[in-house]
Amino acid sequence: METKQKGVTTEGKLKDIISHAKEYGFVFPSSEIYDGLAAVYDYGPFGVELKNNLKSLWWKTMTQVEENIVGIDAAIFMQPLTWKASGHVDGFNDPMIDNKDSQKRYRVDHLVEGHAANLEEAGNKNAADSLVEKMNAFLAKDDFTGLKELIISEKISCPVSGTVNWSDIRQFNLMFSTKIGSVAEEADVVYLRPETAQGIFVNFLNVQKTGRMKIPFGIAQIGKAFRNEIVARQFIFRMREFEQMEMQFFVRPGTELDWYQKWKDVRIKWHAALGLSSEKLKFHNHDKLAHYANAAVDIEYEFPFGFKEMEGIHSRTDFDLKAHQDLSGKKMQYFDSEINQNYVPYVVETSVGADRLFLAHLCSAFTQETTGEGETLKERTYLKFHPAIAPIKAAVFPLTKKDGLPEKAQEIVELLKYDFNVAYEEKDSIGKRYTRQDLIGTPFCIAVDHQTLEDNTVTIRHRDTATQERIHIDDLNTRIGYETSFRRIFEKLR
Ligand code: GAP
Repeated sequence: METKQKGVTTEGKLKDIISHAKEYGFVFPSSEIYDGLAAVYDYGPFGVELKNNLKSLWWKTMTQVEENIVGIDAAIFMQPLTWKASGHVDGFNDPMIDNKDSQKRYRVDHLVEGHAANLEEAGNKNAADSLVEKMNAFLAKDDFTGLKELIISEKISCPVSGTVNWSDIRQFNLMFSTKIGSVAEEADVVYLRPETAQGIFVNFLNVQKTGRMKIPFGIAQIGKAFRNEIVARQFIFRMREFEQMEMQFFVRPGTELDWYQKWKDVRIKWHAALGLSSEKLKFHNHDKLAHYANAAVDIEYEFPFGFKEMEGIHSRTDFDLKAHQDLSGKKMQYFDSEINQNYVPYVVETSVGADRLFLAHLCSAFTQETTGEGETLKERTYLKFHPAIAPIKAAVFPLTKKDGLPEKAQEIVELLKYDFNVAYEEKDSIGKRYTRQDLIGTPFCIAVDHQTLEDNTVTIRHRDTATQERIHIDDLNTRIGYETSFRRIFEKLR
């Protein structure tokens, strides 16, 4: 825990969050009984609810609230030429370095950033900043000799062997491949898509024509993506199998930078409206623009391990559509009746990782609070999710297991369960039941007591303040509905 001051709410460190996520059913290491698989994770019962809520909010924002965006769900496997055209076969590489003593391979930027983080932790922030700046300059020029010299001169050692016995730096492709077809020798190599975006590009005309879409318009998609990340670290921040929520916005050439500004603004506001603190969100312009981009920025969130990329916004020009047009021989053009011209549209993309968004919300919600003093000192851990994304919206408790209270409580569950994800609990003291719901971030606990049987009122306890109020059963639906509705989030965006 970072701090334990009276009344002060702080964000816990990553290891506390990881153990909380496992203990309370949010995220488990994949195939854990076999000691897991590096950088692959499974979502538990509360994790899947939280993730689904985040995905649903993003989907509704894009396809329902925005007027000119439609969705698709493309396959993970694509004709391998797709990845040739997109540049992934030849250029989706990361510079890697091997330590000859430990035989361990590292992504150069991770190795150098790790060393910079150690310098910063030791109080040497200037040296850390200068090191990262030098690394970025070498990366921007693809100067691998300079990079290796930097690693040697800074005495950056292998975390496993502790030596600086490094190989030369080489490029390593991050795409996973497998074979399609029944006879191994004749089977064709296919890739697990490293981004969902290409499924949108190759379907551009299908969607434009069938939906009679007029530029400017967008296509949104949520789906799995796979990257053979070499260094597995930081929990679900960097995974080998992850989920992306991407939207490609097709615009008239020459207008792309205006749209780029618009989407930057819209997307950072969206994150704040969902409850991430604005102080923990910032833009970071790319130091090195990819060959297809004429502007690119990351929205970074301040995770317990520092500000890191959560979403990318890229002005991708007409690179992808043109590349597919050239390789497939199929026209990727749009006839713009307003200016009476055919052109290949330009694209502004917003791309956010569902898992990174999940991690940001888990870190932001993880609250450890201490109240009282001396004998009355109390510690409380709870997950302060925005009610709209909380896995369970309300828990219903009969005060005791007798006198008809469980039956009355079940009536309330019946009343709420078609609109909200609700839980019912009758075991243990009511205090313990409140604690259990706090730990998974349930915003409302409804207690049914003897007075309920007389006047149909219940107490409703609010997670963040632990205060209670008495309300009529008939008002529960409207009250919980308002507090947990997506509408409240969208209203903030106007
Ligand atoms: N189509 C553009 C694209 O894929 P990217 O910056 O490589 O751009 C976009 O990825 C987002 O996908 C990132 O901002 C991040 O949230 C998520 N992402 C990328 N690699 C990831 C990984 N290994 N694990 C989890 N999320 C990842």
